[in-house]
Amino acid sequence: MVSTSTQIGNFYFDNCLMNAAGVRCMTIEDLEAIRHSKAGAFVTKTATLEERAGNPSPRMASTPLGTINSMGLPNQGFPYYLDYLLSLQKNDPNQSNILSVVGMSQMETHVILQTIQNSDYQGLVELNLSCPNVPGKPQIAYDFDTTESLLKEIFTYYKKPLGVKLPPYFDIVHFDQMATILNKFPLTFINSVNSIGNGLVINDETVVIKPKNGFGGIGGDYIKPTALANVHAFYQRLKPSIQIIGTGGVKSGRDAFEHILCGASMVQIGSAFGYEDVAIFKRIQEELQAIMKDKVYENLNDFRGKLHYLD
Ligand code: SIN
Repeated sequence: MVSTSTQIGNFYFDNCLMNAAGVRCMTIEDLEAIRHSKAGAFVTKTATLEERAGNPSPRMASTPLGTINSMGLPNQGFPYYLDYLLSLQKNDPNQSNILSVVGMSQMETHVILQTIQNSDYQGLVELNLSCPNVPGKPQIAYDFDTTESLLKEIFTYYKKPLGVKLPPYFDIVHFDQMATILNKFPLTFINSVNSIGNGLVINDETVVIKPKNGFGGIGGDYIKPTALANVHAFYQRLKPSIQIIGTGGVKSGRDAFEHILCGASMVQIGSAFGYEDVAIFKRIQEELQAIMKDKVYENLNDFRGKLHYLD
């Protein structure tokens, strides 16, 4: 029997496929649709301390090869998502999903995480260190000193399972440096990668999204090679207790298979989920199972991280 079940920390999931934060996950209605689909779990839209309207529209556009977005973290405010997750946890203590958060300042991030620490919430939390779309706020995880000092302070009080969402890195030295920082902390997982920040798509002579004069995060087919490289680079460098959620360019069972081959324990679907809605989780699970059956792999452990190199 071919199984796509997986584990992140002490949490078990029937299926390794789930949504990526940002796509169809802003409201309880969105999250319920994922919860009742074949997805193994959901992650919420990254929540800030206060509700945010985000950037002006149009703020997302599609091209034949993917998407560009500059949403600017629109969300319902962190208590909305925490209350919902607490109600799910009360009804079913075994349910496990991911609450994505970040503050608009370091102080706000601490307020959010301290609130979660002091709450009854026992599930996974993802700290988004990589949103490229808030004007004037750089992607935190491109500043290695800030990332290290922030995590150092967080882990003085935060004792629940925590992961971080990372931007893509493009240099071997940066993989080394970031992995050295991450390995200093009791992180449960990393999520690699967020969109490739600050791309530009042009239609005739004009940009296609309004915020930041058209600059926005790139997703979809464009980013799969970068995502695979980041997943595998961190798989090679992180201590085994830090697991990897692979995100970027997944629209088929083959793409999910490649993320797992590079070292991912769970795989998130962003742009393609936007196009195809919740039916995508069943389709990609079936395609992944067919590949595994063909290769006589029974579960993800049979091939996770076992990428072959040329001699
Ligand atoms: C956004 O809301 O701008 C996207 C979130 C992200 O890329 O982390």
